[in-house]
Amino acid sequence: MALRLSAPQFYAERMESLALYVHWPFCLRKCPYCDFNSHVRELVPEAAMVAALRREMAWEAARLGPRRLTSIFFGGGTPSLLAPESVAALIVDACRLFAPAEDIEITLEANPTSVEAGRFAGYRDAGVNRVSIGVQSLDDSALRFLGREHSAAQALAAVAFGRKIFPRLSFDLIYARPGQDVAEWKAELGAALALAADHLSLYQLTIEPGTKFATQYARGDFVLPGEDLAAALYDATAEAAWAFGLEQYEISNYAKPGGESRHNLAYWRYGDYAGIGPGAHSRLTLDGTLTAASRHRAPEIWAGMVADKGHGVTVEEVVGPRDRAREALLMGLRLAEGIFLPRFLERTGVVLWDAVDSGVLADCVDAGYLTVSETALVATVDGRKRLDALLPALVL
Ligand SMILES: C[S@@+](CC[C@H](N)C(=O)[O-])C[C@H]1O[C@@H](n2cnc3c(N)ncnc32)[C@H](O)[C@@H]1O
Ligand code: SF4
Repeated sequence: MALRLSAPQFYAERMESLALYVHWPFCLRKCPYCDFNSHVRELVPEAAMVAALRREMAWEAARLGPRRLTSIFFGGGTPSLLAPESVAALIVDACRLFAPAEDIEITLEANPTSVEAGRFAGYRDAGVNRVSIGVQSLDDSALRFLGREHSAAQALAAVAFGRKIFPRLSFDLIYARPGQDVAEWKAELGAALALAADHLSLYQLTIEPGTKFATQYARGDFVLPGEDLAAALYDATAEAAWAFGLEQYEISNYAKPGGESRHNLAYWRYGDYAGIGPGAHSRLTLDGTLTAASRHRAPEIWAGMVADKGHGVTVEEVVGPRDRAREALLMGLRLAEGIFLPRFLERTGVVLWDAVDSGVLADCVDAGYLTVSETALVATVDGRKRLDALLPALVL
């Protein structure tokens, strides 16, 4: 049967795609491992901040022109502290300012306290069709170590409840924690997989500069698993996920076929994305030129800038061919599908082979870390484990 599209859909199909990120920068408490742009405030001026987000979105849409909106992602911070009405207003604006795709993915990051789970139905009614829950661990002592506000039981309840409400659901766990061995992690992960819907994000604990953990770690308050144990934990993660039908489509992300985060795929495939809100980043094609922008990180200063001139952009620069190629390689090699060569050329204007060291490329292919075909450059399972070491030598 011939596919019939309505007029707006017909035009939307022909427009350039856009992924929209909305940053909510507030949290109830700062987790000691986290270096995201998140702030704790006694009183959060929600109405004024939401008004500023709406104004900045309108400013961005006005200069971007018509775009096919494929995803919206509410990230943070803790966007599940927002009232559903605020989320609804932002979604209505986004769908009015841009041309929403038929199958638009609208994700909201949620913390698993009971209060936040209580807003799930409101978010669904606002148009959210996917949640990503920050479970972090199913072990209460690990949750205390990670400085979380919730217990394992609350997290389990939030996931079970979320599954009843949202067609798609993901949750995050942090592993390679101090003292964790493979057997313990397998047991914890097994319990998580039994609850999983179509997606999981499984991150190795990293010590980010400037965090409380960075100070504690430097002082020797705790030690992290060594390289061999960390590698064994990583391998055990992919194996267990696979056994549950979740494929490792990106280094830390696992999904059932079709359950991949379309929003995050836009980043990794080096598509256009607009970030609004304090500290948000964008990569946007403006008048045919790829441009990188970032916003002021401090919520109050950002809001003041939006009030003055409609946006909080502090830095905006053209991304030159060399940087385009570098960024597309760094992102694309994280994906199991790798980099599609015609798309790389179209997006960066650079032939991929001109952006890599041919000797290092040949060595990586010989060692089984990369594969090359007529259409794609792909990092193998072994290659993806070594990406941090490979990329500086490979990418010119
Ligand atoms: C923006 S944060 C999550 C948002 C939400 N406020 C929460 O805490 O659930 C995204 C995810 O990154 C992961 N993450 C943040 N910092 C990390 C670190 N230092 N090491 C490993 N994972 C980290 C956590 O799993 C977290 O859920
Ligand atoms: S991990 Fe989440 S809740 Fe914790 S400080 Fe970061 S953004 Fe906030």
